[in-house]
Order: sequence, then C-alpha cells, then structure tokens
Amino acid sequence: MKILLLGSGGREHAIARALVADPAVDGLVVAPGNPGTARIARNVTVDITDPAAVAGLALAETVDLVVVGPEAPLVAGVADAVRAAGIHVFGPSAAAARLEGSKAFAKEIMAAAGVPTAMARVCTTLDEVRDALESFGAPHVVKDDGLAAGKGVIVTDDFAEALAHADRCLDRPDEPRVVVEDHLDGPEVSLFCLCDGEDVVALAPAQDFKRALDGGQGPNTGGMGAYSPLPWAEPGLTEEVLERVARPVVREMAARGTPFVGVLYCGLALTSRGLRVVEFNVRFGDPETQVVLARLQTPLAGLLDAAARGALATAEEPRWSHGAAVTVVLASEGYPGPVSDGREISGVAEAESLDGVHVIHAGTRMDDDGRLVSAGGRVLCVVGEGDDVPQARERAYRGVGAIHCEGAHHRHDIASGIGD
Ligand code: GLY
Repeated sequence: MKILLLGSGGREHAIARALVADPAVDGLVVAPGNPGTARIARNVTVDITDPAAVAGLALAETVDLVVVGPEAPLVAGVADAVRAAGIHVFGPSAAAARLEGSKAFAKEIMAAAGVPTAMARVCTTLDEVRDALESFGAPHVVKDDGLAAGKGVIVTDDFAEALAHADRCLDRPDEPRVVVEDHLDGPEVSLFCLCDGEDVVALAPAQDFKRALDGGQGPNTGGMGAYSPLPWAEPGLTEEVLERVARPVVREMAARGTPFVGVLYCGLALTSRGLRVVEFNVRFGDPETQVVLARLQTPLAGLLDAAARGALATAEEPRWSHGAAVTVVLASEGYPGPVSDGREISGVAEAESLDGVHVIHAGTRMDDDGRLVSAGGRVLCVVGEGDDVPQARERAYRGVGAIHCEGAHHRHDIASGIGD
C-alpha cells in the first residue's frame, strides 16, 4: 500500500512512524513533513489546504490512501477533493469536519444525538455573552465558534477577562459567534475513535497536559505532554464513550447525509455528574497520538485503510502493549506566545540511544548549514516507553535531559498525577 500523509507536526511524525512499521506499507510520502518524517519517508512540498493541489499530488504519486493529519485541510475540503479523484482518504468531508470547525454545530449534533455535554449558549453579541456568563457563573468558559489554532478557548474566574476574550472573537467580519458554556469539573480524557461512516473502533484513552507550566499553571497550549494508559480510569470508560458518544454521533451524521469518516477525537470530562463531552476534534490529538500509537500493536495502515473503505466491521481489533508511554514536549522559549526560530538542537541521537526512548519531531527544520534547528512553538516530543507509567515517565525525562536547545522549556510533572 502506498500512502500520502498530510501535515508537518509531531502528530504526523508519530503517524508516519506507525505507518512505516506496517508491513503492508511499501511507500510513504509526507507533505510537507518535517526532518523527522524525512528520515523514514519521502517529504514533498504542497499547499495542504489546497484541495485541487492535494488531489493532484495523490494522483501523481499513485497512492492508495491519503491520511489527513491536521484539521485545516479537512475544513477546507481536501478529503472531498481526494475522494472525488477516486482515491480512498482517511479524514472527514468538509461538511463532517464542522464537528471541529464549528463549536455551535458540534453542540447541535450532540443535542440531536443525546450526547452528554455542558450546557451552552451560542452568542453573537457582547450583551448575549454578558447574560450567558452571568447565568452560568464562574469559572467562565468562552469558546470561539471557529478554528482558532488552540487559542479559541478561555477558562477563567475573571468576568472581565472572559468578556474581553469574547470581544476579540466577535471582532471579525465573517459571521463571528462564540459559545459560552457551563464549566465542567473533573479530569479530562482524550479518546480517539476511528469511524468509517457507520462503524466505530476506539483506540486507547490518553491524557494530555494543556497548561504551559507545572501544576496546571500558565496559559493554555496545544499540549505539553501526554500519557497512556490511564491506570486510574474505570475499565468500562471506552465502552461508555462508544455507546453514549461516538456511535450516536456517527449515526446522527449519517442520518444527515454527511457520514463521518476519520478520527472522532472525543475530548471528555469525567465530572462528578458523569461523563461529558468537552469538545470534538476531527483529527488525531497532538501530543496524545505520540503515546497512543507508541502502544498500538495492530498495523496502523490496515486500520486507517479499513476506515477509509467503510470496512471497520471486519478490521482487526486494536491490540495494545501491556506497558505505558509518556511524552514530554520541549517547547521554544516564549511558547505559547511568540517564539524565535532557528535555535540549534543537539542531543537527539543521544536521547534515542537510551533504553525505551524515541524522539518525535514537531517544530524543527534543517538550516542552510545542515544543522537541526527549532521552527515553531512545540519543537520535539520525547517519548518514553516502559512497563508502567512511572518507568515510561522516567525514561522520557532521561531523554529530555540529553537534548539541548537554547531557551527551550518543558513541564516537569507530566504523568506524575492526573493531567491539567
Ligand atoms: N492535545 C490537544 C489537541 O490535539 O487538540
């Protein structure tokens, strides 16, 4: 099987690593990829948000399957264009990608499908936002309706800050909306559900650490680390999510004529009142993918191809290593604010020579002198694998200790408690 994978982050390097380990894969092209994917596949340049360009590349490369990593190409209709070109694609249509592209749409689907989630109001004016904030009370949760590259959500006790965030989100020409929600307590879990439009197969639950600083302090980020499995989670959690969340959503999307094919990333809160959906994404999570795929024993290409072909019902059940995986993100100085690129990175080979450690590239590039340098907010994800979470954690941090990148920072408490 020859595959084209779209994307350039840590998630895509982790997916590429799992795909090339599948004996059924005899060619992997990554667009645009990063220095990590370049070591195991062939990187090519294309505008991955241009549906016609991606479909053209898939045809020119004669691939059997296209796997879409990030959400932006999906919302832009890349999966539709590839399907129209007669090529199987793992990723939802633009219509189905609205589950991530519009928080208000996701709420509408959850209401129609009877999926448990936070009470919410969709607001288009600041007066409506003010009313909703007063009615739900603190902590205040305000979400930009559209894609916002991880910067669309604020959770704060400060009324003025919540209102100011809503004001920024609403200050746009293109029908801006925000969703104001009741706050959900309890630990959060990410569960990736592979969907083929009808059937659903869940992968292993993981947890990420969203705040920039130890102890769940500092601003929100794309994720500073993750681990899997979750030893504290109820054994029936996955089945409950399938039954109460993923299958009802897939049925609802099919009934609307917009079947969901791809990953339904269920962001969940295990609240004192039971399971609630925090959000849906329509792609694998980053950095949770780095730990989930490190544990997956079943060939990944077979699963993604089955989902793309509508054949999950007969696909191999995912099998998991009995051990654990922990990833720690090394981020550029200043992240999640503005960062300066081009800082030299050393020690990756030393980290990878350690027992149970591998390094996933996220924001890296090779400079003109052939040096590996930083190129973005999250630079590297160091993954430790071990017999259990403490051993995997110890290995991940040993790997982090081997790497140097001036000014880079990381959290010290990944997988040391329930994430935040
Ligand atoms: N780790 C959170 C996300 O991928 O959206």
